[in-house]
Amino acid sequence: MKRLISIGVTCTMLTSAAVAQNFQVEPIIGFPDFGYMEDPGTGDGQYTGPVFVLADQYPTTMPALDQGAQDILQMDFMGDSINYAVAVRDYIFEGNIRGGDVERDFDLHLNTNNRDWYHAPWQHWGSLGREGYHGLTREGPLSANVLDKTQTDSSYAYAVGFYNGPGGLTFGKVWPSADQGPDLSSLIAGEGFPEGTIVGKFLFTVLDDTQVGYLTNPLQWNAYMYNCDVPSSPSYLKCSTDKTRSTQKINLLQMDIMVKDSRAVDSAGWVFGTFAYNGNLPAKHDYSAACEQYAGDGKKWCNLVPVGVMWGNDPDNNIGYLNETPSVDSPTFFNKTLTQTVINPSPDLPAQHLGWAGRLDGPADNPGSSCMSCHSTGQYPAVSPIMLTFNPAEMPQNGEKADEEWMRYFRNFKDGEAFDPGRAVSTDFSMQMLKSIQNYVEWRSQSQDGKYAVQYWTDNNVNAVTRGSVFE
Ligand code: HEC
Repeated sequence: MKRLISIGVTCTMLTSAAVAQNFQVEPIIGFPDFGYMEDPGTGDGQYTGPVFVLADQYPTTMPALDQGAQDILQMDFMGDSINYAVAVRDYIFEGNIRGGDVERDFDLHLNTNNRDWYHAPWQHWGSLGREGYHGLTREGPLSANVLDKTQTDSSYAYAVGFYNGPGGLTFGKVWPSADQGPDLSSLIAGEGFPEGTIVGKFLFTVLDDTQVGYLTNPLQWNAYMYNCDVPSSPSYLKCSTDKTRSTQKINLLQMDIMVKDSRAVDSAGWVFGTFAYNGNLPAKHDYSAACEQYAGDGKKWCNLVPVGVMWGNDPDNNIGYLNETPSVDSPTFFNKTLTQTVINPSPDLPAQHLGWAGRLDGPADNPGSSCMSCHSTGQYPAVSPIMLTFNPAEMPQNGEKADEEWMRYFRNFKDGEAFDPGRAVSTDFSMQMLKSIQNYVEWRSQSQDGKYAVQYWTDNNVNAVTRGSVFE
């Protein structure tokens, strides 16, 4: 039986939220902040709770690398991978978790550690665009069994990502003004993101501990999400005909990290890592001392257990393996022959499906891919799809040797090198950079009945950069 989790927000509930929007955080009305939100209302019924404000005042000169980032760049991501991942996690937490009301955490404008963080522009647009509580976009499908064997309902992940100062610099170069289109010259020159860029991302789901045990004791945010993704809604699974949204409580599931670290020579200077939420852990545990400072529900961020780290795609490792139904009786598979992925051996980590042949992937990610496989397709125009197939049955199966076409998705890359050199410009593993450019071009084409020459750069169809179905 499904538990009713819909909280159907009424105007009364909304006014009681009582934190008015602060105009000081947004003196310049730049890029749109979001695409979907409860009606602001009028008079007594006006919504005065927290609203997502895009952090888009990108720096124009390279910000000094703070001590935290410098320390991370000294750590050994190969030999001490799990501690490296935790250090990056804690760096991202610093000044963004304020203790108490987690709804106010990760409002990047309020960072109390004097660190600047930025969002990618142009993610508001389109049917999967940002909602107005936390800037969450609708992401990949969470098909039955993908989170645990006991998960019978499917849904979609909702997520938000952000970049530190050096990452913001690159966004500022490509997006010098909200009033003009992207300037691709720095990407064409192969500049990419500077050393010390750190990226974080949180993924949430409306699925809960009735089907996914480790989502107990959840860290919850509001989301203005599609009813067709909510198992308790009459609109459930009717996405093609029912486009309604409502306010729902969603549960933290996964955290992703990316670090531009020039020592990662096989992966265009990127190190990727991921974490899975485990609410069964005591709120205070031995993952890091940094978490002891957070009060109340703020401690729950520390229930994010490292899954692992990767700094390359292990291009020669071509025999399939897939743990299709992770669960207590089907635990995480460790492919010991991989040399560029490390998976956390801790029993605190819930069983994982991981990526193809045991490469790094998070609980919400497609098991036929890997973090770096998918992100290596970050290029404009998107002339190759992000994956060859989303269907697990069509992937090289357990023990089966993958063909060359499949292994094209598990190559290693030099800094600035595109997935399809000469046919597209690399966005340096940034999928949100790619989406910002693609969304802008699509919007302009549609709203002004025009086409851009850039749409003819290639003879191929340009692929939608999405893991889920796009519905218009
Ligand atoms: C099948 C494709 C795919 C896989 C696998 C994948 N990602 Fe992503 N990732 C994306 C896309 C697409 C976005 C842009 C946001 C969205 O989905 O709309 C993104 C966004 C991100 C962001 C925000 C910065 C950016 O690039 O825009 C981070 C950080 C990130 N992913 C890390 C990871 C990590 C770590 C893993 C592995 C645990 C991973 N991703 C696996 C496709 C993928």
